[in-house]
Amino acid sequence: ATPPQSTPDTLGAGGELHQGVQDGDRMTTAQGIPVSDNENSLRAGDRGPTLLEDFAMREKIFAFDHERIPERVVHARGYGAHGTFECTKDLSDITAAHVLGAKGRRTEAFVRFSTVAGSKGSFDLARDVRGFAVKLYTAEGNWDIVGNNIPVFFIQDAIKFPDLVHAVKEEPDRAFPQAQSAHDNFWDFVAHMPESTHMTLWQMSDRAIPRSFRFMDGFGVHTFRFVNEAGESTFVKFHWRPLLGKQSVVWNEAVKINGADPDFHRRDLWNAINSGDLPQWDLAVQLIDEKTADALPFDILDPTKIIPEEDVPLQVVGRLTLDRVVDNDFAETEQVAFCTANVVPGVDFTNDPLLQGRNFSYLDTQLSRLGTPNFTKLPVNAPRCPVAHFQRDGQMQTDIPSGPTNYEPNGHTGADRGPRAQDASFLTFPQEVQGEKRRIRAESFADHYSQARVFWESQTPVEQEHIVDAYVFELSKCVDPTIRRDVVANLRNVHEDLATQVADGLGLELPPASKPFVPVRTDLPPSPALSMLASP
Ligand code: HEM
Repeated sequence: ATPPQSTPDTLGAGGELHQGVQDGDRMTTAQGIPVSDNENSLRAGDRGPTLLEDFAMREKIFAFDHERIPERVVHARGYGAHGTFECTKDLSDITAAHVLGAKGRRTEAFVRFSTVAGSKGSFDLARDVRGFAVKLYTAEGNWDIVGNNIPVFFIQDAIKFPDLVHAVKEEPDRAFPQAQSAHDNFWDFVAHMPESTHMTLWQMSDRAIPRSFRFMDGFGVHTFRFVNEAGESTFVKFHWRPLLGKQSVVWNEAVKINGADPDFHRRDLWNAINSGDLPQWDLAVQLIDEKTADALPFDILDPTKIIPEEDVPLQVVGRLTLDRVVDNDFAETEQVAFCTANVVPGVDFTNDPLLQGRNFSYLDTQLSRLGTPNFTKLPVNAPRCPVAHFQRDGQMQTDIPSGPTNYEPNGHTGADRGPRAQDASFLTFPQEVQGEKRRIRAESFADHYSQARVFWESQTPVEQEHIVDAYVFELSKCVDPTIRRDVVANLRNVHEDLATQVADGLGLELPPASKPFVPVRTDLPPSPALSMLASP
């Protein structure tokens, strides 16, 4: 007969292991050893030196010394919350994405809002773009829509992102300004990058000083693809629309709020959720077939362009509700890792050259920020569906896979065989690709001003006044007068009224309109678009 087994006292009543659980009143070290005194270190004599032997003190300080991880290289200051996404329109004729496949289907979500330029400790009401990153923990894996509250971007090609961010962040010699675009480097860069003109206009508008996260839009920015079960593709743009509507503060309010309460936005979100005033956004999509896309007067692969809602109306397909604040800011908001490459079956990429670069950048940067590929196992990042793969080991491995097999194919049977069925549900859309390998910007990306002009003209007189005031305020901080002149010269390509008012505000004589900077390469035959731009 088998002798009766005594239950190890590390097991709970239900036989569960108390492994690493923060539980109970008894204070322990990280090794689980009781701490006898958390006030005094171990000393030789009442007034003698502290002993190296004091493992409890050394472990405590050791853990503290390593509490910080690198902040995000951009979007360092952010605030997260949990929520639920509910599909309100069955979109299964357009996409195989399970999350959008049935009206009423609910999916867990995590959202992180952020500013872009400031460091983690900067203030909330900087004039800046706001990040709006959504992780949907779908039944078929995590889908991240890593967007902003402005529907266009500064640059067309990811290769310019390091330049953009260097120019936006503090100047390298003096380390200021820390969270403002009111400085020479930023304006020098954008004055020489006409493709940034449209986005810069949005940035100088009230959109860049939202009243709170609850009152702002979110945009996926790029054109993505939906692919349905039949393998048919539809281009799609994503819009998050706040049910509370859009509201901003004015600059003078922003300045005062930053001084009085630099945490204004995070406090607002925390209080709203905790008081049951749950913020909500509708997810709306613009769906565009290939033919409609071809007929548009701009390239849908160009992230500096919106698709006008008059041409392609929005369709609401879901609703996001933020219903739970985080339990721990570091574990969740700081460690969450979004990536544009995290898409699910039914969602696919386009050739937008900014998106293509982003798909590399996020995973890459997260290795340096979170230290190991095993960050996917952190609770906030872990998919809520089963995972089955042969990725193994690495720092901070928390999985303990059993059995002899860590490769495929293999001849094992049963549980030892491991996962083998390769599910065809994620099929990359078989878009035809052809052409010479070249470093070149398509001529369909060449118009940097039409939509900037439409944006300016669409603003009410008060909103236009705010835009002019913002340009004047920001540019007045530039030390080098040629930068102010260069920016105004570029604005003349957008609208004479805008350029004249900004020049007046700065006390500048109106400079001639600039000729757009074109990154011409002499070793290539000129493309028609480049020669068109270079002409007066
Ligand atoms: C972080 C949006 C372009 C690289 C972020 C975050 C957002 C965002 C919302 C913060 C994510 C979070 O809350 O954790 C956007 C949008 C872009 C854009 C909407 C243009 C449409 C780019 C490009 C690159 C890039 C072109 C690089 C080539 C990064 C990096 C981070 C980041 C490295 C930090 C990620 C981390 O540490 O987890 N971006 N971004 N972004 N973005 Fe972008």
